[in-house]
Amino acid sequence: PHWPVAECALLLKLWLVLTVRVVSLGVSGGTASGKTTVCDMIIQQLHDHRVVLVNQDSFYRGLTAEESASAQDYNFDHPDAFDTEQLLECMGQLKRALPVNVPIYDFKNHRRCSERFRKVNASDVIILEGILVFHDQRVRNLMDMKIFVDTDADIRLARRIRRDTVERGRDVSSVLDQYGRFVKPAFDDFVLPSKKYADVIIPRGGDNHVAIDLIVQHIRTKLGMHDLCKVFRNVFVVQSTFQI
Ligand code: CTP
Repeated sequence: PHWPVAECALLLKLWLVLTVRVVSLGVSGGTASGKTTVCDMIIQQLHDHRVVLVNQDSFYRGLTAEESASAQDYNFDHPDAFDTEQLLECMGQLKRALPVNVPIYDFKNHRRCSERFRKVNASDVIILEGILVFHDQRVRNLMDMKIFVDTDADIRLARRIRRDTVERGRDVSSVLDQYGRFVKPAFDDFVLPSKKYADVIIPRGGDNHVAIDLIVQHIRTKLGMHDLCKVFRNVFVVQSTFQI
């Protein structure tokens, strides 16, 4: 039978809508703004769903031995420090509900742990977290909802000093030097300008329970719609199979 083009296009559109089943969130904000805490709180509240957290940090390019020797002069806050192509590939797979291997990054040695990966399974919700996840338009286009965690710079610096000295093997003077030379300028040039792409801006990060509750409600609505779509899709598939 000859199908009119308009009807075919409509059917194709319907099929695409019905087969989308992953909700993806982007969580951005300056260094030590509390992005991870916000993500953890969302994940906790969505305990009855399969949720996966992907960190942009996992896609840092590993430094060569030569670069490592002068790591204090390397700009880890510039968009070029990340392997965005690989990030896009991984996110694309997850959006198609396929499992992926995410690299593991070692902040102490500025290297990828070669041979070791974190296996991430297909999920209902993907959260991508990182300082520059709103910078690249292709990455932004993957997100159904974009959240910017807005925390005062003095609080972020205090947290960063504590974290980098305790967890990342740095001393206070190197943290302050890196902050002044790279972290703050890159925040002003790349992170802050990307805030305009956010759908939701959360002041005070993880302390803002009301904002997190509202975000979780929105995700649940989206997941509910997808569940409804799945039912329709199954009915549609069963009916077409039956007619054949
Ligand atoms: N960075 C570093 N050394 C590396 C790689 C990255 O010091 N070898 C720093 C960069 O300077 C960048 C920061 O790591 O500013 C990015 O991590 P950040 O966003 O601070 O970490 P999260 O734990 O995701 O932050 P949050 O506290 O908001 O959860």
